[in-house]
Amino acid sequence: MAASITDTQCYYCILVILSSISTLSIRTLLNKATKLNLHLPPSPPSLPIIGHLHLITNPLYLFFNELSSKYGPIIFLQFGASRQLLVSPASIAAEICKTHDLNFASRPTFAVDYEKLPYVGSTFINAPYGDYWKFIKKLCITKLLGPHSLGASRGIRKEELHCFLQKILDSAASMKPVNAGLELFKITNNTICRMIMSTRCSDKDDEAEKCHKLVQYTFELAVKMSIGEVLGPFKWLGFWFYGKQAKDVFKSFDDLIENILKEHEARTEGNNSEDSKHKDPVDILLGIYNDKQSEFKLNRIQIKAFILDLFIAAMDTTANAMQWAVAELINHPIVFKKVREEIASVVGYSRLVDESDIPNLPYFQAVMKEILRLHPTATIIPRQSHEHCKIHCFDIPEKTSVLINLYAVMRDPNVWDDPNEFKPERFLISKEREKALMMTTKLIKDY
Ligand code: HEM
Repeated sequence: MAASITDTQCYYCILVILSSISTLSIRTLLNKATKLNLHLPPSPPSLPIIGHLHLITNPLYLFFNELSSKYGPIIFLQFGASRQLLVSPASIAAEICKTHDLNFASRPTFAVDYEKLPYVGSTFINAPYGDYWKFIKKLCITKLLGPHSLGASRGIRKEELHCFLQKILDSAASMKPVNAGLELFKITNNTICRMIMSTRCSDKDDEAEKCHKLVQYTFELAVKMSIGEVLGPFKWLGFWFYGKQAKDVFKSFDDLIENILKEHEARTEGNNSEDSKHKDPVDILLGIYNDKQSEFKLNRIQIKAFILDLFIAAMDTTANAMQWAVAELINHPIVFKKVREEIASVVGYSRLVDESDIPNLPYFQAVMKEILRLHPTATIIPRQSHEHCKIHCFDIPEKTSVLINLYAVMRDPNVWDDPNEFKPERFLISKEREKALMMTTKLIKDY
């Protein structure tokens, strides 16, 4: 008990010290804005020191949604020493992502010592707009995730789908329940692992779980360490509390990926003919790493951090989207029936749907778009301004962190009729509109 009182007093002291310093730094910022005569976006009423921290509720995107409907489409929020611009309507999100795309191409940096956690400083997702950003973006579009690479890995997705369906059929035959969430994660995990590095992560069933936990744990730690952001001059405390765990998790990931890199290198060395096998993204990245003429010199940590980026970006997003798809179809039997009828008329009953059928399944496409609209699995997109600009008539200072609430964008009543309703038909283009579009395209071409 005595110890806990001492702890509480100690935490209280730290809080008071932090608070005074963060108040001072925020006051300095506001004074600067007044001096420069900046027209900043409004901010909801806040408490001194902690700002809006006390208001936060879970889930974050709903909390942000409530704040925006109460205080306006673009607002400044203050979480301790950290200031964030919250953006909700589709029109302002478009201004940021399209009109000012280069200015907002970077993401906010983490309050982490990059020398101690080199992975964090080497990821592509967090890379500031610059040479590395441009190089990897171009590489993703042209080689790593482009149409050629996706076409080459079509067989992998087909095999994994067959495996998944066989499991479901076996469970049904023996009347065993299926943990749909876990199975959907496993198929995503295996597919992404094979597409990226030609390795099936879960040949043993518990390995999928391990890999899932590693990616989830990395995510959780990133969130915990971001506590440093609100502590201003004491931001190092985030690392102080969670740095050891973060180092351990990166070490486990590093061991796993280093082995895979070595396997790829051994395979390439044993193989004299350059073109005899399909090159997966790891082969391509290692090729660049070994190429002395390459326009950008990649290092080994960047390769591994990029693979971690892909895992984080691809796994939960895809698995969650599939879970939502199953849930929405079960909850909307009429839509489900229409999807089945469309598949039956286009594909028939003698084979499974193939990726090449998708262009001929417009209703199915509309259903998937509606599922992603209602359930965008990445609900908040963080960006950071590079230089001062004007958005929606407000001044946005340089280096401002921006949170784009994709959940609100996807349910913006100015863009979508009945935004909270599941209506796949909204994505169907009528025959007349399709004809008009084709005519216009032809006219433009002829002109
Ligand atoms: C349903 C599945 C998916 C959803 C909903 C999704 C959604 C998103 C969103 C919202 C972003 C942020 C974009 C931005 O900041 O402008 C993003 C970024 C990214 N995604 Fe996905 N994603 C999915 C699947 C995948 C897959 C399968 C891969 C790779 C194999 C992938 C790779 C990436 C990468 C590399 C980025 C970072 C791009 C950048 O910062 O420029 N995603 N994704």
